[in-house]
Parts: sequence; structure tokens; C-alpha cells
Amino acid sequence: MLNVAVLISGAGSNLRAFLDAAADADYPARVVAVGADRDAEGLAHADQFGIPSFSVPYSAYPTRDAWGEALAVQLRASNPDLIVLSGLMRLLPDGLVAEFAPRIINTHPAYLPEFPGAHGVRDALASGAPQTGASVIQVDGGVDTGPILAQERIAIEPGDTEESLHDRIKPVERRLLIDVVRRIAEGELALS
Ligand code: GRF
Repeated sequence: MLNVAVLISGAGSNLRAFLDAAADADYPARVVAVGADRDAEGLAHADQFGIPSFSVPYSAYPTRDAWGEALAVQLRASNPDLIVLSGLMRLLPDGLVAEFAPRIINTHPAYLPEFPGAHGVRDALASGAPQTGASVIQVDGGVDTGPILAQERIAIEPGDTEESLHDRIKPVERRLLIDVVRRIAEGELALS
């Protein structure tokens, strides 16, 4: 059984989908902790599943590194085999990445390396491209630059707004994430 910690910043709809998948007795991973960099509404999903959660508010720390160390304390306590960033809108400091890599993966609402960063959906829409996508990557020291573990193309439809496009991307992100974690748990996919 793979023990997974999930980090979020917002609504946690991707977290919720993962919690639902992990609730299946046949799924080879379980969520052992949910954390956020703010008082994220998505932490309520952990409560509903009886899973420990924590908030390490970025605004409460003088530096990114100090925030990262406080976050690392919480992560060490849950001793995860894998850390999933699913809607964490914060770059992890190098020290935390160095401590937990390569066991950190991230979902991104674009077809990396296209449109990295915090506004992947908006940037894809603004580019006029006919398609974008969803990706699951391994987290390295860069911004969405790690090895791509899974990705899938998604068409951009005429009249799409950032919201309508993101609403079509998220289900694909969730499906890719659930499959990537299963493959890691079953030894089909090695992180290195
Ligand atoms: C997801 O698309 C994630 O990839 C991006 O922000 C969104 C988070 O959505 N970083 P939610 O908080 O899971 O609803």
C-alpha cells in the first residue's frame, strides 16, 4: 500500500477525485495526510474522509525557506511514500524538493512543456492554440520542468472561457493522476 500525502491550495476538486479513487479497497494507494499553504476550502475533503490535515500558511512565515521547513515538519510526520501536488499554487523551496525528491509529483492543466506556471489554462486560451492538455510530472527544482509521467491532449473549443476549458481539463488531470499513482504503487512506474 502506497502512502500518499496531497498538497493543495484551493477547492481541492482534484484531491476529492483522488480520495474517492483511493477509497476503493482494490486501489493500491491511500491518502495519509492532506496539507495546504493556506486555509484552503479543500481541506474539508480530508475531514470528510477522516484523514489528518494541516495548514501551513505561507503568509505566516518570513521566507519561502522558513515556510518550506515548517511544511517539511508536517510531511515528515505523515511519512509519505509519495507527495502529490494537486492544485498547490506555490513553488516548493529547493530544500524541500531536495529532501523528498524524486517522490513528489504534480498535476498541471496544460500539455507540458507548453504553458508552464500558475496560469497554464489562461495562457493556452490566450495563445489561440487549437488544443492544450493535462500533464502529470515529477517535481524537480524548476517550474513544471520535471520528467513527464503522463499527459493527454484536450481540444480548445470556440467560445471556451478559462473556466469552461479548465472544467474540461480537470477530469483528465484526475484520471491521469489516479492512473500514475496506481502505476507507481504497483511498481510499473519508477521515479528517479
Ligand atoms: C488544477 O487544475 C491544478 O492542476 C491546478 O489548479 C487546479 C486545482 O484545482 N494547479 P482544484 O483545487 O483541485 O479544484
